[in-house]
Amino acid sequence: MQKQESLNKNKELIDNNRESRLILAPMQGLCDDVMRDLLTRIGGFDECVSEFVRITHTVHSRSTWLRHIPEISNNNQTFAGIPCTTQLLGSDAEMMAKNALEVVRFGANKIDLNFGCPAPTVNKHQGGAILLKEPERVFHIVKTLRDRLPENIPLTAKMRLGFENKDLALENAQAIEQGGACLLTVHARTKVEGYEPPAHWIWVRKIAERAAIPVVANGDVFTLDDYIAIRRESGCADVMLGRGAVMRPDLARQIKQYLRGETVQAALFDDEIRQWIMMFIDLCLQKEPHGKYAVARLKQWLGMMKRVYTEAEQLFDAIRSMREIDEIRRMIGDFSFTQS
Ligand SMILES: Cc1cc2nc3c(=O)[nH]c(=O)nc-3n(C[C@H](O)[C@H](O)[C@H](O)COP(=O)(O)O)c2cc1C
Repeated sequence: MQKQESLNKNKELIDNNRESRLILAPMQGLCDDVMRDLLTRIGGFDECVSEFVRITHTVHSRSTWLRHIPEISNNNQTFAGIPCTTQLLGSDAEMMAKNALEVVRFGANKIDLNFGCPAPTVNKHQGGAILLKEPERVFHIVKTLRDRLPENIPLTAKMRLGFENKDLALENAQAIEQGGACLLTVHARTKVEGYEPPAHWIWVRKIAERAAIPVVANGDVFTLDDYIAIRRESGCADVMLGRGAVMRPDLARQIKQYLRGETVQAALFDDEIRQWIMMFIDLCLQKEPHGKYAVARLKQWLGMMKRVYTEAEQLFDAIRSMREIDEIRRMIGDFSFTQS
C-alpha cells in the first residue's frame, strides 16, 4: 500500500514535470562539440545549443559549419542522440538569412539567434547584446530570418535583459516573438551586469507572463537547489544550464532524478567523474590527435570543476605544469586523493 502511494506520488511528479526540459547552454570557447558530447552522454539534457557562429560579410562554407558544429552531419544530434541547435550571431539580417539558408542546406534543422553576447569585439560590430538597444533591429533580424527560412525549420532566440538597463527587456522579448521566433531563452542579466550574481529570475517571469511563446529561464543554476529556485521564481518549465553543467557535470542528471521522484545521487569524483575525465581526454584526442587541444581543454575543465570539488583542485595542481597528454593521463589514472 505504502509502495503504491509512493508510486502515485512519483507519477504526480512526472506528470507535473512532463514538459520540463533541460537545455545545455551555448558557451563559446567552453562548450564545444567535445564538451557537448561528454555532457549529453552523462545524461539529463533534452537539447543543446551550439557555440555561436559569427556572421559578418561572408557566407560560410560547409566545412566551416561542420568544424564548428559536427553534430549537423549526425542528424543534428550529439553522439548520445540529443538534438543540437545551430546558433548564429550577427547584425546584418541579409547575411544572416543567407548563412541560415546555407547551413539548412547542409543539414541544420533548427536555428537560434544570439542577442546576448557581451564580448566587446562582437558588440563593436553591432552584434550580440548591443542589438538590445534597438528592439526594432531585433525584430527586423528575426522577421527576415523567419520569412526566408523554410516553414519546417524552427527559429528560436536567446537574449539578455538589456544592454545597460532592463528598460527595453519586455519590448525586446516582444520584438523576438512578433518577428516569428517560436521560443525565447532569457539569460536574466543585462550586458553590463556581465556574470555578476545575482541573476534576476523575476524578470524572466515578467517576460514569460507576457509572452505567447515558451520562455526558457537561464542564469546561475549551479545546484539542484538553484534549479528549484529558478523554476519557482521564473515560473518557467524549461531551464538552460551553462557554467553549472561544466562545473558539476552530472547537474542535469541530478535534476532529472529529482524530477522523476528518484533518489538524487551525486556523482563521486573518485569514481564516475574520474572516468568522465578519461573519456573527455579520449574524445579530445579523437578530434585533435596531437594532444595540445586535450591538454588545454582538460586544464580549462578542471579549472571550472575545482570550484565545486576539492579533488579537482588537487588534480589541477598536480597536472598544472604538464604539457604531455600521456603524462597527464597517467597522473589522473594513478592519483590518490587526500581527504580534507
Ligand atoms: C564562456 C562562455 C561562453 C558563452 N558563449 C555563448 C554563446 O556562444 N552563445 C550564447 O548565446 N551565450 C553564450 N554564453 C552565455 C551562456 O549561454 C549563458 O547564458 C550564461 O552563461 C548564463 O548561464 P549560466 O549561469 O548557467 O552559465 C556564454 C557564456 C560563457 C560563460
